[in-house]
Amino acid sequence: MRIVLMGAPGSGKGTQAQRLVERFGIPQISTGDLLRDAVARGTAYGLRAKAAMDAGALVADEIVLGIIRERLGDADTGRGFILDGFPRNLAQARALAAMLDSIGKPLDSVVLFEVDYAEIVRRISGRRTCQRCGRVFNVHTHPPGSPPHCEQCDDHPALVQRRDDEESTVQRRLQVYEEQTRPLAEHYAAQGLLRVVHADAPVDEVTARLLAVLQP
Ligand code: AP5
Repeated sequence: MRIVLMGAPGSGKGTQAQRLVERFGIPQISTGDLLRDAVARGTAYGLRAKAAMDAGALVADEIVLGIIRERLGDADTGRGFILDGFPRNLAQARALAAMLDSIGKPLDSVVLFEVDYAEIVRRISGRRTCQRCGRVFNVHTHPPGSPPHCEQCDDHPALVQRRDDEESTVQRRLQVYEEQTRPLAEHYAAQGLLRVVHADAPVDEVTARLLAVLQP
């Protein structure tokens, strides 16, 4: 299964990708996570990506495509993958299609999560992430304890709020999404790949809707 999850910031791509990893045993490839990791490790890619991420803008295609090309070459993608947050513009979509065509493994489907603007702002303001395992929590739906800590990791490390989840940066990310990423829905609809999931519902319900649209 080779799929793309697309949707606005906070629409639940990462949360649902983790559910699919557990169910299908194929890897989640999140360009946001890969870029945050590169920033944390201070790699050449990370140093170049940081300013764009802090501003809520897209990181240069050349950097993102370099990271994706490397990651898709890893052995664990042989049975499939879940692309989370990539592609994000037409140039990335075309580059991805060329990469996958060259190995004879095109995409099976592209899922678009649709969520109300007000709900997105609420979800993002409550998001907390474990820096160790990357698992995502939300203080509104699942209070993580006080002080907030990860329940999955043995030593229960503290949860943190993402730098780009400040309100002004979120507004910019939403604008970038509308201008550059949302139009990809039409691109994929024209290819018969697009599946729309109304994701204004509890996590389990969204997972059920997602699995339904992924049925062959
Ligand atoms: P990235 O990390 O991809 O962020 P994003 O697309 O803005 O998406 P988010 O991670 O904010 O949200 P999500 O949809 O995964 O929601 P989540 O599941 O966490 O990108 C960050 C930055 O990196 C970009 O701004 C850009 O600079 C750069 N970048 C990344 N990819 C790039 C690319 N391809 N090209 C160029 N630049 C790139 O859920 C959100 C919260 O809601 C959580 O707390 C969760 O617990 C909660 N929640 C989830 N589902 C539900 C539900 N059904 N009900 C209630 N709460 C829910």
